[in-house]
Amino acid sequence: MSKKRLITVIIGFIISCSVILGWGASHNIYSMAQNTKSVDKATGNFKIGKDLYLENCAACHIPIPPAVLPQETWQTILENPGNHYGVKVEGLTGFTQRLMWLYLQGYSRQLLKDEVKPKFIAQSRYFFALHPQVDLPSPITINTCIQCHSQATKFDYRE
Ligand code: HEC
Ligand code: HEC
Repeated sequence: MSKKRLITVIIGFIISCSVILGWGASHNIYSMAQNTKSVDKATGNFKIGKDLYLENCAACHIPIPPAVLPQETWQTILENPGNHYGVKVEGLTGFTQRLMWLYLQGYSRQLLKDEVKPKFIAQSRYFFALHPQVDLPSPITINTCIQCHSQATKFDYRE
């Protein structure tokens, strides 16, 4: 193969790769934007992390809004997919975890110094802070959110 021909082949390959990847990315973002009304408007890297979060963390239960738990709890969850409330969360790679962490960290807050890290929403001060004067059910579980947030499965907690 001549040098010129080889270069043409390589350039062609690079262009087709970027077209395929670019289409995949924009298509994904487009369809997510169509399908989910969100808790937070996430942009840029946050948006990618949010899409990954919805893809990986809303398969077995409703998507949980980041703000109801502290950063420390999200970190523990992301770091221990093999030991997730008695089940295993499959398919998390280091890269996926990092992007999801960017999003979850960006939309939640840190614990106060000496505050105990909640494992469940029902133990989280941030959850109660978002529900002032709301007559909440007892016990509070992820299955009760839907009673008041009818669009919770679509990650819409404003409706
Ligand atoms: C394989 C199924 C499965 C997947 C995937 C999954 N979870 Fe869970 N998750 C569970 C189960 C089961 C529970 C325990 C529910 C209960 O006790 O009522 C739970 C509980 C939780 C809780 C505690 C909710 C509460 O009751 O306060 C959080 C937070 C949570 N998951 C976040 C995540 C995140 C973040 C991901 C993605 C990394 C994820 N889940 C992916 C099955 C799953
Ligand atoms: C008894 C009804 C009720 C239940 C159950 C309930 N919520 Fe709410 N939630 C509300 C109300 C009402 C508000 C608005 C409170 C305000 O703004 O004063 C709210 C606000 C919120 C917000 C803030 C939305 C915003 O404006 O950004 C989030 C997030 C949220 N709830 C998540 C949850 C989750 C997660 C659960 C389940 C663990 C849950 N809620 C269970 C009634 C409920």
